[in-house]
Amino acid sequence: MSFDVSGDAYDRFMGRYSRELAPVFADFCGIAPGQSVLDVGCGSGVLTEELANRLGAEHVAGVDPSPLLEACAARVPGADLREGVAEELPWPDDAFDGALAQLVVHFMDDPSAGVAEMARVVRPGGVVAACSWDFAGGMQLLRAFWEAARAVKPDASREASFGTLEELGELWDAQGLEELELGALEVATAYSDFDEIWSSLQLGVGPSGQYLVSLEPEAQEAIREEYHRRLGEPAGSFELTARSWAARGRVPS
Ligand SMILES: C[S@@+](CC[C@H](N)C(=O)[O-])C[C@H]1O[C@@H](n2cnc3c(N)ncnc32)[C@H](O)[C@@H]1O
Repeated sequence: MSFDVSGDAYDRFMGRYSRELAPVFADFCGIAPGQSVLDVGCGSGVLTEELANRLGAEHVAGVDPSPLLEACAARVPGADLREGVAEELPWPDDAFDGALAQLVVHFMDDPSAGVAEMARVVRPGGVVAACSWDFAGGMQLLRAFWEAARAVKPDASREASFGTLEELGELWDAQGLEELELGALEVATAYSDFDEIWSSLQLGVGPSGQYLVSLEPEAQEAIREEYHRRLGEPAGSFELTARSWAARGRVPS
């Protein structure tokens, strides 16, 4: 499993982006005091923590199938955290004012079922929302990695994705969610040097990290050189940007 890793490893690789994205996504979803919200695919709890800061941990729930849930429990004591998947949420109908999935929809085995479940556990008029990286153009860390991987290993698989905003919008539309809003959420993160980003990939987190550590050392080294070149051969600190597509809708009243 791509997320059978420690919370620290996740945070060093992807959590650094999630941390920047969480407040922007929560704003996009209109999360404000008085609501109770479910974080679907909460992972190490970066968005869960943002929700708890806004709503109080007792008004926040999270669900994830991976061991990252332990890191989430440590990060957000008092939240209702359960092991499970989006496609079969362990809560009754209308349990929340909102359900959010940050960087999760493309990992669901059945995204339609997952979004339908999110809508089921949200009360009429509540918000159902997700954001997913723009893998094709707007996520430098991953795009440059897979380009470098394919330059060395032409058969390197692509990361599964909801590649376009339209695809994400169609998924929301198909569930009959109302007041559909689509948007682009942009964040950035800084690295002190190239070794910092490369060592975060070597932690084996997510499809890219898993792919990298599955390769023999010579191939890893060739990808490292190609990746360095594609990132503009940074000599010292540098910044990467990441754009995600976001969709938000309301459960029909
Ligand atoms: C890229 S991480 C995002 C974690 C967190 N939402 C964040 O923003 O940092 C993807 C997460 O989705 C979880 N996941 C994978 N399949 C899932 C499913 N079917 N339902 C819910 N979560 C799932 C993984 O375990 C992982 O924690």
